[in-house]
Amino acid sequence: KQTITVGLLGLGTVGSGVVEILHDHKERIQHKTGCDVTIKAALVNDPSKKRELPTSSTLLTDRHEDITNDPDIDVIVEVMGGIDHTFTILMEAIKNGKHIVTANKDLIAKHGAELFEACQENKCDLFYEASVAGGIPVIRSIMDGLSSDRITKMMGIVNGTTNYIMTKMAQEGVDFDSVLKEAQDLGFAEADPTADVDGLDAARKMTILSILGFSMPYQLEDVDVKGIRGISLEDIKYAEELGYRIKLIGIAENDESGVSVSVEPTLLPIHHPLSSVNDEYNAVYVYGDAIGETMFYGPGAGKLPTATAVVSDLIAVLKNIRLGTTGTAYVQPQFPTQVKAKQQ
Ligand code: NAP
Ligand code: HSE
Repeated sequence: KQTITVGLLGLGTVGSGVVEILHDHKERIQHKTGCDVTIKAALVNDPSKKRELPTSSTLLTDRHEDITNDPDIDVIVEVMGGIDHTFTILMEAIKNGKHIVTANKDLIAKHGAELFEACQENKCDLFYEASVAGGIPVIRSIMDGLSSDRITKMMGIVNGTTNYIMTKMAQEGVDFDSVLKEAQDLGFAEADPTADVDGLDAARKMTILSILGFSMPYQLEDVDVKGIRGISLEDIKYAEELGYRIKLIGIAENDESGVSVSVEPTLLPIHHPLSSVNDEYNAVYVYGDAIGETMFYGPGAGKLPTATAVVSDLIAVLKNIRLGTTGTAYVQPQFPTQVKAKQQ
């Protein structure tokens, strides 16, 4: 049996879920991978804060070098969020030969190309299933399960916080501010919830899906984005009276005129399947030339669902380490290398 040592970046909602799953499913993971997983250290803002620790010997640190430079650490699980600072830390880790698992869509949408290139050069894995639609294995399905098809369109609900807000406003008449607070307390929202509310989080996820699904570069800056801030209880009530439900819908299409991606509040007939996707749940339709229509549904945010995707990625890394095939799991996705200004 091989022991694989993990360094966690972040021990908040998702990080504590990762610790819980690695503990509760220890034997199953050993059985599936032939590996024992130990969490040697976790990076946090405040090491003095009281929290459940993986083991009494886990180092809590606010110095990322304790993790990125530790030769014992094989895999870094990044669940702290942030973009440029986190990118710098991960590049340092990759140069030190660490495999990466991340739940960070902001980072992947902006720096995916550089991260993949560095991983390829250093023979490291990079997995990011939790970055889109939380616990739903939609990235793996697009990259593996549907890889023989030509995907033409992807559409759905990819942000749990806004779906939770819209559901509670519609079902319970709760006002926007108090239900946003509830979504934050439940651990669904981003550290800065304006990313959820203004549609940016959904735009990042649709950008990642487009790059992977259509196998071509696409810029976040080209997504047409509108969030839910302007939707009132009155709007929701009138829509319901007319037989519609308002949902924040992401659509990515690839046709003769090229790729177009949008995120905006949309009126859906009440009997449309997406109308009954409630709370923090997400659902993504994927259309392909050969398969026709498929739909992926499940919890799109939250501690254990998201951590399930993260730990499944970790298991993929463990299997690659055992097989000696790290850094080669997928053809490198075409994340764009240059961010260009959006044309007005
Ligand atoms: P969170 O609860 O706010 O936890 C963040 C953790 O990272 C905390 O432990 C925090 O330390 C630590 N941290 C943050 N910035 C740091 C820094 N600069 N230096 C050191 N430590 C730092 O966040 P989360 O909800 O778990 O989300 C983490 C990541 O997963 C984000 O990228 C998010 O987009 C992604 N994600 C989240 C969900 C979800 O449902 N929550 C779902 C999918 C993906 P302290 O504990 O000391 O504050
Ligand atoms: N804030 C995100 C959401 C977390 O609400 O969907 C999952 O990516």
